[in-house]
Amino acid sequence: VKRVTTHTLQKMKDRGEKISMLTAYDYSFAKIFDEAGIDILLIGDSASNVVAGHETTLPITLEQMIFLASSVVRGAERCFVICDLPFGTYQGNSKEALNSSIRIMKESGAHAVKLEGGMEVCESIQRIVSAGIPVMAHLGLTPQSIYQFGTYSVRAKEEEEAEQLIRNAHAVQQAGAFALVLEKIPASLGKRVAEELRIPVIGIGAGMHVDGQVLVMHDMLGITKDFSPRFLRRYLNLYSDIKDATAKYIQDVRSKDFPNEKEQY
Ligand code: KIV
Ligand code: NA
Repeated sequence: VKRVTTHTLQKMKDRGEKISMLTAYDYSFAKIFDEAGIDILLIGDSASNVVAGHETTLPITLEQMIFLASSVVRGAERCFVICDLPFGTYQGNSKEALNSSIRIMKESGAHAVKLEGGMEVCESIQRIVSAGIPVMAHLGLTPQSIYQFGTYSVRAKEEEEAEQLIRNAHAVQQAGAFALVLEKIPASLGKRVAEELRIPVIGIGAGMHVDGQVLVMHDMLGITKDFSPRFLRRYLNLYSDIKDATAKYIQDVRSKDFPNEKEQY
C-alpha cells in the first residue's frame, strides 16, 4: 500500500480533491478507518474529553498522547498519522516545542504533529519543521485556550477577529506548516482562507469550501450523546446500539441463556 504523505495531501488540494480526516485513539479503530480509506488520522488531544473523561483538553499529558499515538500507528497502514501536541508541552518556547515534537516522533512513530495558535507559535513551527517534522496548525476555536474565551461558540464572526485569523493563517503557512485546521468559524471565512492559502485547509465546522473535513470519531459514530453542534453529522448511533447490546448480554447471562451448549468446551 502506498502511504499518504504531506506531498499527497498537497496534490489533493491542487487537484481539488477533498481530504478526509478523523480522530482515532487506539489500534482497533485506526485499523478500521485506515482500511475504509481515510486520508489522515489525528490523535487529537480531544482524547482528554472522549477517552479520559476530562471536561477540557488541558489535563492530558505528552506521555498519554504518545501511548495513544503509538497504538494508532500500529493500526494505520496507508493513512497519514498526526499527533496533537498537548497543552503545556510547546507554549513555553520553541526549544520545548521541538523537544516535545521529537518525543512524539521517536516514541509513537506518528508522521507529524499539530499545535494550536498563530503568530505566537510561528517560531516553534519553524524550528520543528527545520528538524524535519511536518507541522499542522490549528486556528479558530482552539480548545486549549478555552479559559481565555469562556465558551465553545463560533469564532471570528466579527470583521476584526476574521482579519486576525487570516493574518495568522498566512503566518503559519509562511512559518512552514504543511496544513491548517480551522475549527468552528463562518463558512465564508473558511472559503477565503482556503482560497488564499497554498497549503490544505481542513475544517471542522468551517463549511463546505475548505479542502477537507475532520470529525472526532466518537461524534461521527454517535458514541457521544449530549454533543450536537450544527456542524456534526452522525453516521451511526453507537451510544444506544452499544447500550442495547450490553443490556441484552446482561440479560442473557442472568437468564443463563449465555453460554449455551455450543458456546462451551
Ligand atoms: O483534538 C482534536 O480532536 C482536534 C480536532 C477536532 C481537529 O484537534
Ligand atoms: Na486538538
